[in-house]
Amino acid sequence: MLLPKPLLSPLLPLLPLLTSLPTLAQQTRCQWSTLRSATDQVLESLTAGITGTTAAGGILLASPSLIYTQNSVALSIASPDSVLSAPLDVAFAHSIVDQDGCAGFVRIVVLPSSDGEGGGKGVLVIGAQIFYNYTFNQGTTVRQIDLVFAREGDWQMPEGLNATALLGHVAGEDWGALSRARQDSRAVLEGVAGTYLDFVGGTVNSDGNGTGTDSEAAVAVPWGRPCSRLEGSVYTAVGDAESCEKGLSPMGGTAQGITGRQFVVDESIGAVSVLARDGKLGGAPGVFEFRVVEGKLRYVHQFAATGLARMDD
Ligand SMILES: *[C@@H]1O[C@H](CO)[C@@H](O)[C@H](O)[C@H]1NC(C)=O
Ligand SMILES: *[C@@H]1O[C@H](CO)[C@@H](O)[C@H](O)[C@H]1NC(C)=O
Ligand SMILES: *[C@@H]1O[C@H](CO)[C@@H](O)[C@H](O)[C@H]1NC(C)=O
Repeated sequence: MLLPKPLLSPLLPLLPLLTSLPTLAQQTRCQWSTLRSATDQVLESLTAGITGTTAAGGILLASPSLIYTQNSVALSIASPDSVLSAPLDVAFAHSIVDQDGCAGFVRIVVLPSSDGEGGGKGVLVIGAQIFYNYTFNQGTTVRQIDLVFAREGDWQMPEGLNATALLGHVAGEDWGALSRARQDSRAVLEGVAGTYLDFVGGTVNSDGNGTGTDSEAAVAVPWGRPCSRLEGSVYTAVGDAESCEKGLSPMGGTAQGITGRQFVVDESIGAVSVLARDGKLGGAPGVFEFRVVEGKLRYVHQFAATGLARMDD
């Protein structure tokens, strides 16, 4: 595992050794190891289910003022409507951490379990951005979780989809750490993600009218090769010779935009997760995650909660 960028400025070693650093307790950039550990704990809690009465909720229930949104609706994380209220049969999990945002992101695939718990309605794909508070005295607490899930029947998630094939696609990708020399800055990563979202969703002006044109939008995306794209459960791998542009049509003047973009970025692996509203899907809450290597787009993951379903629907 590649070491993260140093928390403190390179000047620090020149300072005399201090026994306490009170001003640093106000830092906004969070420590890598703390975020990694907290995000792993969140993932474990999600898997175990939040019962409200047991320790399974762990780090989540330890945050009394936790804000939880599910498909853009605010809920109690332990309520029966919460996708997390029952144990989830997690077949695949991927997570990233964002030191500047003091945040994490998890993307998981849940299979229906035989007793119908959790994923009983079919295969679920879940993306959750997790925002932490860190204070010197209280340590790390979960401030907010924004979770979006899609299930069979949602956009690009046909009923009876092939879960084996879906798992093969997500597990077969390389999201390994990049050497420091190959890492892009946060601004570059967010910029690449932004060009793709503008391309597939189009851009809108203040009147809400589309402004993007096909030629502008397609040219702006730094397409990498090879590249693969997973929309819901639909996989497009175009091979070494082509980019993820294949099969996509820009929105141009009819665009409604992909708006309200909320980013969690991990420079160490070139990962950018975005929660947003997809105008062309009726404003459905959507999850995107991109892998960018040396400024070029290599993987695109996207799913959307077009049914806006709760677990008891
Ligand atoms: C996080 O910090 C904010 C601002 O200080 C505070 O309002 C909120 O209650 C904190 N949340 C948790 C879960 O500690
Ligand atoms: C599901 O996908 C796997 C792996 O690609 C394939 O071997 C299998 O035949 C598929 N099953 C069906 C029912 O299409
Ligand atoms: C924006 O779209 C609306 C409805 O389609 C239209 O009435 C309006 O004139 C458009 N505004 C501009 C500036 O194009």
